[in-house]
Amino acid sequence: MSSGEAFSGSKVAILDFGSQYTQVIARRVRECRVYSEILPFNAAPETVRRTGARGVILSGGPASVFSADAPLLNPEIFDLNLPVLGICYGVQLFAHFLRGRVEYSERREYGPGHLKTTGRSPLFEGLPDEFQVWNSHGDKVTALPPGFSAIGVTENSPYAAIAHVERKLYGLQFHPEVAHTPLGKEILENFLYRICGCQGDWTMGSFIEQTCREISARVGRDKAVLGLSGGVDSSVAAALLHRALGDRLTCIFVNNGLLRAREAETVQRVFGENFHIKLRYVDASRRFLTKLRGVTDPEQKRKIIGEEFIRVFEETTRELKAHDSGEGRYHYLAQGTLYPDVIESVAIAGNPAALIKSHHNVGGLPEKMDFELIEPLRQLFKDEVRQVGLELELPREIVFRQPFPGPGLGVRILGEITEERLSILRQADEIVVSEMKAADWYYKVWQSFAILLPIRSVGVMGDQRTYDNTVAVRIVESQDGMTADWVRIPYEILARLSARIINEVTGVNRVCYDISSKPPSTIEWE
Ligand code: XMP
Repeated sequence: MSSGEAFSGSKVAILDFGSQYTQVIARRVRECRVYSEILPFNAAPETVRRTGARGVILSGGPASVFSADAPLLNPEIFDLNLPVLGICYGVQLFAHFLRGRVEYSERREYGPGHLKTTGRSPLFEGLPDEFQVWNSHGDKVTALPPGFSAIGVTENSPYAAIAHVERKLYGLQFHPEVAHTPLGKEILENFLYRICGCQGDWTMGSFIEQTCREISARVGRDKAVLGLSGGVDSSVAAALLHRALGDRLTCIFVNNGLLRAREAETVQRVFGENFHIKLRYVDASRRFLTKLRGVTDPEQKRKIIGEEFIRVFEETTRELKAHDSGEGRYHYLAQGTLYPDVIESVAIAGNPAALIKSHHNVGGLPEKMDFELIEPLRQLFKDEVRQVGLELELPREIVFRQPFPGPGLGVRILGEITEERLSILRQADEIVVSEMKAADWYYKVWQSFAILLPIRSVGVMGDQRTYDNTVAVRIVESQDGMTADWVRIPYEILARLSARIINEVTGVNRVCYDISSKPPSTIEWE
């Protein structure tokens, strides 16, 4: 189910021609409080019409209309009588399909430019006559299609902005969605409000209300289960489903023995006691740690942890089903999948989004489970999910918590996982988290955590020689986890972390700071 499909307010469709900015366009549109949905570039006109979109945006893209495998739209999209805004490559599509002329260009025009508007256009209403724009396009339009006129020129292009006013077709050779076009948001607003007639009625409150109505209509008297990890996505999904279904939702929280300090208690307190969500807490730590005994290979560890999780989850749901009582049956499985996980990126050469997708593993539960899926966050970006969490009154410590990998501390203990090592790492990690919070840095970074190395080194404490473990500290900044850089954190914070870990955690006599970026390193050490 996609909750957005049923969103009855104003929305627009974005056809994705492989631009690295497609998701940014979607974000910008939603910032204008208009719901946006990304569709593949070759979406059928009927599909676009069915979404109820009041306008269409054609994203840019790295392709040339002249290449054999160019992503081309179905030109009947232009006959839907909907306003269309073509960005960059989108402009070439107008010229290509509506009888203008495009000329092949070896080089991309890339960088800042100055746009001068020519005449008046609703797209530039309220904007100055001249403003800064950001160009990034290849081929050039050299003759406009009939009915079009230029509404803006730059140093290098007489057709930097074009329009067919009666048909409400607009083309921009530059990118209004990026920050380097400072007035880009105003241009998008003009397109959405003045040209498409959108209302600006997409808010998190309306999303919650609508999604809850949909979920309760769909589930009816049946029941749903949800795997709760304590991370942002599953927590928000749990709170949302609980609002819709109340006691007909059961959350399953599996303790795999690889959790951080007090993790299990926090989840039980927040969801069980505060929210009164039906919570099935399964302490499977023994099982996991037994399976992991003697295992040192990182991939092997991940595989064992993943498979064991599936087994425990399946057993628990089977038990729930076996004890189905009262009205309705456990027929639905809810997951906190987000929009970036589900967008089908266009696989064309040069599309970085497609590359990212290929090694982004959504993973998790087996495909064949005897449940129907509910994914209420499928249409949301991470920051929107956080807003939903806040509206649902989840505590800030959950809504803004840093990502934590599914295999937990298992991939932060290099080598064999033992109870003793887990205990050392938990204490060290807790110090990192609490010092980062105390220094007001925890929420500014992507992740900050400790890793336990299987290396012992010599130290001296008091008059005693020690031969103890080493802890590495990793603090990184990142937009999405795909690339990352180490944070230039003030020395005083590093000094405090190191002093506390060495003084307070028995078994550690050395702390190192990880100064590697991703790539070529990864964020987690295993
Ligand atoms: P890497 O180590 O690949 O991590 O640079 C990128 C981001 O993904 C998180 N991560 C995981 N998250 N299950 C998850 O849910 C996993 O198996 C997993 N492995 C890594 C990692 O914490 C970082 O934010």
